[in-house]
Amino acid sequence: MTELDRRQALALALGLAALPLRARDAEAPLQYPIRLSFNENPWGPGPKARAAIVESLVDGSRYGAQYSTRLIAAIAKQEAVAPERIILGSGSGELLHMLALLTHSRGRAISCAWPTFGQLMGFGEQLGVPVRRIALDAQLRHDLPALAASVSSDTGLIYVCNPNNPTGTVVSGAALLEFCRQMASKALVVVDEAYMDLIEPGATTSMIELARNHSNVIVLRTFSKIHGLAGLRVGYGIGHPDTIKALRPLQMVSPNVPGLAAAAASLGDTEFLRVTGERLRADRRRLCEACDALGISYAPPQGNFVFMKPGMELEAFRAAMKQLGFEVGRPFAPLTDYCRVTVGTTAETTAFIQALRQVKGVRS
Ligand SMILES: Cc1ncc(COP(=O)(O)O)c(C=O)c1O
Repeated sequence: MTELDRRQALALALGLAALPLRARDAEAPLQYPIRLSFNENPWGPGPKARAAIVESLVDGSRYGAQYSTRLIAAIAKQEAVAPERIILGSGSGELLHMLALLTHSRGRAISCAWPTFGQLMGFGEQLGVPVRRIALDAQLRHDLPALAASVSSDTGLIYVCNPNNPTGTVVSGAALLEFCRQMASKALVVVDEAYMDLIEPGATTSMIELARNHSNVIVLRTFSKIHGLAGLRVGYGIGHPDTIKALRPLQMVSPNVPGLAAAAASLGDTEFLRVTGERLRADRRRLCEACDALGISYAPPQGNFVFMKPGMELEAFRAAMKQLGFEVGRPFAPLTDYCRVTVGTTAETTAFIQALRQVKGVRS
């Protein structure tokens, strides 16, 4: 790329980054249907990520190795881990598939809580991997003792999602640390921390501390949630270099150049991350208060969604919401009397609360 090209790209990038957050500022009219069904973060991409995406386009004709190296270096610095402990994926979803493939190639079984984020287990079952699903406890949290009891000599992988999707609940950091320490001698422990940046302070603890030096724990993170880059498909794992080495040959898609550039820039966009986190937590609290006022119970939420019990058949609730312009979560068996509702923008949350009141027959 010539210097002129680079300058033109930069000018374009700066111009675009200066644009207001279209449809995401407080004044923008709502765009229906409002999608609150996929746990996306509507505030993203942040301004630095937008600029980086545009700047990276001139390298769209190249394979992205140098972008991967740059992102790995940025993650290594932020998380204080060696680069050889980091693996990138086309979303953390790809890493979940690779972990299922690894378990299959070793002829082993998977243990997990249920319901949880099912991508790893679903893909594993397609390959014929046996899956043991352990019911959540009465507070809809992982039942760690029961999960530990499900592990036997044929278990190759234990999947823990903290905070859990779809319930939004967490287990205590101390309990999970102890669980990981004990289980890691028996199987690879995968701790999926897709929503860790959205917890209330102190609610639980990241297991990255453990993945930094423990042999058999891998922590997964994604740029799809707090960073608001779901469509750009970048996630990462932190684990032992031997695990990372075993996973690499199973990679099917390497992350794309704009996604890698956006992720690296977003990591450094502390202002965007701070403001986004504050907005999502505040709107999550508002959603909970509205549920309280309407007598709707919900699991204590620590992600960008609330798992609520609307008090009617889920399909009837979804249909009523659809009529009012809102797409809400699908059924998560066996908890089919609950609905998972993603926290949208502030204006979307206000509109959703109005719709919820209407569906519950409360006059505004
Ligand atoms: C718990 C959890 N893990 C992983 C993912 C996959 O995210 P992605 O593939 O976009 O990184 C999701 C997506 O919703 C999720 O909820």
